Amino acid sequence: MDTYHEPVMGPEMLELLRPSGPGLYLDGTLGGGSHTRLILEACAECRVLAVDRDGDAIDHARSALADLADRVRFLRCRFDRAPLDAEARDRGLDGAVLDLGISSRQLESDARGFTFRRGVALDMRMDEGTDLDAARFLAEATEERLTQVFRDFGEEPKARRLAREIVKRRGTAVLETSDDLVAALAVTLGRAPSARDKARIFQAVRIAVNEELESLELGLPAIREVMNDGAVMVVISYHSLEDRVVKNAFREWSRACVCPPQLPACTCRGRPLGETLTRKPMRPGETEVERNPRARSARLRAWRRAA
Ligand SMILES: C[S@@+](CC[C@H](N)C(=O)[O-])C[C@H]1O[C@@H](n2cnc3c(N)ncnc32)[C@H](O)[C@@H]1O
Repeated sequence: MDTYHEPVMGPEMLELLRPSGPGLYLDGTLGGGSHTRLILEACAECRVLAVDRDGDAIDHARSALADLADRVRFLRCRFDRAPLDAEARDRGLDGAVLDLGISSRQLESDARGFTFRRGVALDMRMDEGTDLDAARFLAEATEERLTQVFRDFGEEPKARRLAREIVKRRGTAVLETSDDLVAALAVTLGRAPSARDKARIFQAVRIAVNEELESLELGLPAIREVMNDGAVMVVISYHSLEDRVVKNAFREWSRACVCPPQLPACTCRGRPLGETLTRKPMRPGETEVERNPRARSARLRAWRRAA
């Protein structure tokens, strides 16, 4: 098995998805292809529409999955665009998996600029074809937007102060490298930031640069629309805001009645679109976290479209 990215919560994902042939499954976050491989190895007749916005991930997965090539079709785009694919739309999906965030390969490559390791150019784009990298975001975002990003995505209590520090610094020099962002954070906190502090702030910038929550909010209903009856959607998230978007969407789709509470009688469809399969998010087991620390913050939720 390719070690590019160990599949997080692989057995749990398979147990819920239950791929069976001849089905078409969407892997909207292909990465190293480990979840795609699990699906294809569990079901000899299944095919996967394998989507990633990162061209390097697609290239790598294409060779990692060469032995299964006749059952994978690769598509480079944001997963919220995947439902526009003609086959997904016309034939429908028998299941979908999203494993959000970035891969170890992206994080470990200095050239991609996701890391807070020293001297790394601030880039953080999952899709290198887009214009907005992290340096440009820090140079152009308003103080208000920076505050919101550090507060909401980074849960940083001193979000406003950090935003102000960045705006002050960029008045004299562009923030170009990880060191520049860490220096602004150190002044804000009044101490050397811990690895945890840096991780939170860098993750916040990454979420903003890649419009990750927007893609998730658009993607969930769009994918649901092209799922066949009885098909299951599995989403693994690593950030509380992502998990909240997933939880709310699944809860809303599982409600029988969507009439405003003031209506005396139900006038809506009166029937849920489907059923949430995970009342609480599933978490990885201790053994998995020991083996793969990246799985630590994973939360898995699943929903099934009504038959
Ligand atoms: C956590 S990794 C997935 C790892 C993969 N499940 C595996 O086991 O190898 C996330 C991948 O999804 C991609 N990605 C994240 N958000 C995306 C989006 N909105 N649209 C398309 N790809 C996305 C990233 O570029 C990255 O390659």
